[in-house]
Amino acid sequence: MLTDALGRPLRDLRVSVTDRCNFRCVYCMPKEVFGPGHPFLPRSEVLSYEEIARVVRVFVALGVRKVRLTGGEPLLRRDLPRLVEMLAAVPDLEVTLTTNGSALAALAAPLAQAGLRRVTVSLDSLDDAEFRAMNDVDFPVARVLAGIDAAAAAGLAPLKVNMVVKRGLNDRSVVAMARRFHGTGHVVRYIEYMDVGSTNGWRLDDVVTAEEIVAAVHRELPLEPVPRDDPSETALRWRYLDGGGEIGVVASVTRAFCGGCSRARLSADGHLYTCLFATTGTDLKAVLRGGASDDGLADAVRAVWSARTDRYSELRSAATPPRPRVEMSFIGG
Ligand code: GTP
Ligand code: 5AD
Ligand code: SF4
Ligand code: SF4
Repeated sequence: MLTDALGRPLRDLRVSVTDRCNFRCVYCMPKEVFGPGHPFLPRSEVLSYEEIARVVRVFVALGVRKVRLTGGEPLLRRDLPRLVEMLAAVPDLEVTLTTNGSALAALAAPLAQAGLRRVTVSLDSLDDAEFRAMNDVDFPVARVLAGIDAAAAAGLAPLKVNMVVKRGLNDRSVVAMARRFHGTGHVVRYIEYMDVGSTNGWRLDDVVTAEEIVAAVHRELPLEPVPRDDPSETALRWRYLDGGGEIGVVASVTRAFCGGCSRARLSADGHLYTCLFATTGTDLKAVLRGGASDDGLADAVRAVWSARTDRYSELRSAATPPRPRVEMSFIGG
């Protein structure tokens, strides 16, 4: 089995299918940086679906069992169900997707039909004004909620609903989010605001900790902890004592989970990143387009993974050294 320098296997692959997004979430793609003149990847640099499927098959042969499609916003990529169908045909592989939900009302059924089994929707507030201010393109929350309903109706339930909590921005809405999805089967996952990339102006003071989030929910809807199923899982889990389901908290700042991290990331332009907080990736597209065989591609991945020592979140200190990091919207979280 392929393991990295710290003994961690390669199990999950996050594939960014585009670096573009129709939202400008203030914590991810601030408008001042991602304005009208922003240089997104030219089409020729973006991997085709055939190229992605080939790379994914190589990763599956090396041990990957789950692929998560991300962006930017993955549903902006034309005809995404075609890629889902190609990946769903790969044996021993689960195909999942993380989306902002803006196009899900239209695409949930074709995606499910193509073989998608699960979907995670980002939703930072139920309050329309707060949501519009956070996505910063005035997108109404009702359309994302309609996307969630469409996904459930298409058989993609239960969903995970991701809420990034930023102090002073949407922390008032933590309990409302729990109430909205309590008893529905959908799992709200609160996410500690992370210092990904170099453009969101992250400060430790803006992080609402897992402890604070869980305490706020527990006061209204009592909870008890649930053990992690799998050491590579991102979220800590709690269940409602009244049987109303579960919540999760992705506590990468206060409870780092690098010890079990089995995730690799492939950017839309075909670079392999071994950590969300990496500065650079390895150019697999050059290997691919240079005419390498599948064995040649596998050798390139093996060389990168076996040398991997990343554990950024565990090493993070209050005084994070200012080195450049890949942007969240480029690498897909
Ligand atoms: P499942 O476990 O399959 O439900 O999904 P996931 O939690 O791995 O993926 P999702 O796209 O829902 O991401 C949830 C949050 O976790 C996002 O804020 C991601 O950026 C973050 N995240 C995912 N993987 C990692 C990781 O390896 N390290 C860190 N620090 N954060 C991660
Ligand atoms: N910190 C934590 N989560 C973030 N996401 C985007 N930027 C950040 C950040 N700085 C989330 C998105 C999406 C997931 C892939 O990552 O909201 O749910
Ligand atoms: Fe928001 Fe996700 Fe788009 Fe970033 S990639 S701006 S978090 S919707
Ligand atoms: Fe994995 Fe890097 Fe996240 Fe740690 S910080 S869990 S090594 S991606």
